[in-house]
Amino acid sequence: MCGIVGVLGTHEVSPLILEALKRLEYRGYDSAGIATVDAGHLDRRRAVGKLINLSDRLVRDPLPGRSGIGHTRWATHGGPTEANAHPHRAGPVAVVHNGIIENHSAIRAELRDRNRGPESETDTETIALLVETLMADGLSPRDAVQAALARLEGAFALAFLFDGEDDLMIVARRGSPLAISHGDGEAYVGSDAIALAPLTDRITYLEEGDWAILTRTDAQIFDAENRPVERSSAPITPEAGRIEKGGHRHWMAKEIAEQPAVLAACLDHYLAAEGGIVLPEGEVDFSAVTRIVMVACGTASYACLTAKYWIERLAGIPVEVDVASEFRYREPPLTPGTLAIFVSQSGETADTLAALRYCRGRIPTVAVVNVASSSIAREADIALPIHAGREIGVASTKAFTCQLAVLAVLALHAAASKGSEIARDVAELGRMPALLSQALGTEDELEAIARDLAEARDVLFLGRGAMYPLALEGALKLKEISYIHAEAYAAGELKHGPIALVDDSVPVIVFAPTDALFAKTASNVQEVMARGGRVVLVTDAGGAERIEGAWRVAVMPTIAPLWAPLLYAIPAQLLAYHTAIAKGTDVDQPRNLAKSVTVE
Ligand code: F6R
Repeated sequence: MCGIVGVLGTHEVSPLILEALKRLEYRGYDSAGIATVDAGHLDRRRAVGKLINLSDRLVRDPLPGRSGIGHTRWATHGGPTEANAHPHRAGPVAVVHNGIIENHSAIRAELRDRNRGPESETDTETIALLVETLMADGLSPRDAVQAALARLEGAFALAFLFDGEDDLMIVARRGSPLAISHGDGEAYVGSDAIALAPLTDRITYLEEGDWAILTRTDAQIFDAENRPVERSSAPITPEAGRIEKGGHRHWMAKEIAEQPAVLAACLDHYLAAEGGIVLPEGEVDFSAVTRIVMVACGTASYACLTAKYWIERLAGIPVEVDVASEFRYREPPLTPGTLAIFVSQSGETADTLAALRYCRGRIPTVAVVNVASSSIAREADIALPIHAGREIGVASTKAFTCQLAVLAVLALHAAASKGSEIARDVAELGRMPALLSQALGTEDELEAIARDLAEARDVLFLGRGAMYPLALEGALKLKEISYIHAEAYAAGELKHGPIALVDDSVPVIVFAPTDALFAKTASNVQEVMARGGRVVLVTDAGGAERIEGAWRVAVMPTIAPLWAPLLYAIPAQLLAYHTAIAKGTDVDQPRNLAKSVTVE
């Protein structure tokens, strides 16, 4: 949430910073800005909206300088206006910030008599005002930042520049990731490896509470107690640098299309040649586990909800699923025998990380993550990678299917450790990449259905058993990228209220593979059609024969019902994608959203 870049360079830095911000735009895209120091003179440019607006602004009004910081914003305090865009400046200091300063009102009140007062509605400007005030009291930039950090409460990654200081940048990390690097007489700072990949091949992640003083040739790093520390560097993986759409119109289209390949890579990591499961990152011992809690947000939480059906059925272990923002503050009891599983694509979601920290050291913790260098991956006892590769489209697609795959692997592993025979289910799971390819072959039919869906104001999604979480995921995908109001219900729950919404203007999308519950779902479909509801039936060939009168039918390959959610994710995603295309919305960067939610 919000992307930060900083460069102490040997040439003009604005173009480099703009380029790096483009790679961070997935973190927020409602405004952007850059500040530089040029021959000792601190200046900045900011623009509302996508990065292209800042780029245009810089063409009209260039920003020279070989030292700079940049920011792409996802608004928290204050709307997306130029005044609220970063970098924020107060006197000799400019700052960019990712996170939330919780005590900003108290600090502002305290500073009221000391400086001009705020120009923006942001919490971030308070940091600049505080440092300005401390410098006015005679402190050096370094001492002023150190003193200011001691006052700040909340979560942040920060980068500061100072008027009159061409070779100085100060950065800090508490709760939000930040990486630094040096190369060829230049120093770099970025929210993640992705931002810095074209500039350097090694980065150092600051640890929680660290802050650092950077010059072009040196980095002095201090821990939360202001003790000098060394932090090791790590190579940037080649994948971090590769961002190409590969001929697709949108990242989301690319990421949907590559699911058979990434799913195959993911399963290859975990399925043993002889038919069992391997966990190369470390053994998860289910033998003494009597209860599992699964914690995540959004799409990742629907992956957990699906896994609940799998784990309870295959391994007989009770599973509770909680959204992280509720779990972390409820302070639930963690009884002996409980295993906690945290699922996160980014590995940086603030609530999920806080939930992990609540459990860590008290019960065993397992993280299922896409970004291996992320905070959640580093802090869990065991981190299982999902191998989806970088996901850039804001709406999660391939990360969801790969999360499901790793959770299916865990469910099978748990079942095996409780003495169940898993060979057949493992073999069926191994067939999923090929079946996902076949499901992608139905794209034209789904696109035609989506053109009709685009006319709707409200859409309902239904599913039973493990297809219920998939219905939730289908509704989330549709609403977040097409802005059509969509709700999902367990099919049996419809008649307990939501059926009042059904009329011929509300399409009802039903995910119904022929499984043990098919006849029940079919009855619910009849109930909808009897009230004039327009049913979009997503089923297999057998199901399509057994239900007549649906408004539209999409026929998926016939598969082992256990793993159907993996396959039916494809029509859920394609229906949302093509509906959004038909409506002309911004598929990869839908309004109000950001890819990585590092604030609570
Ligand atoms: C929806 C979506 C979000 C994320 C959620 C958690 O398409 O992507 O709901 O699933 O913000 O993010 P991660 O998985 O990074 O913790």
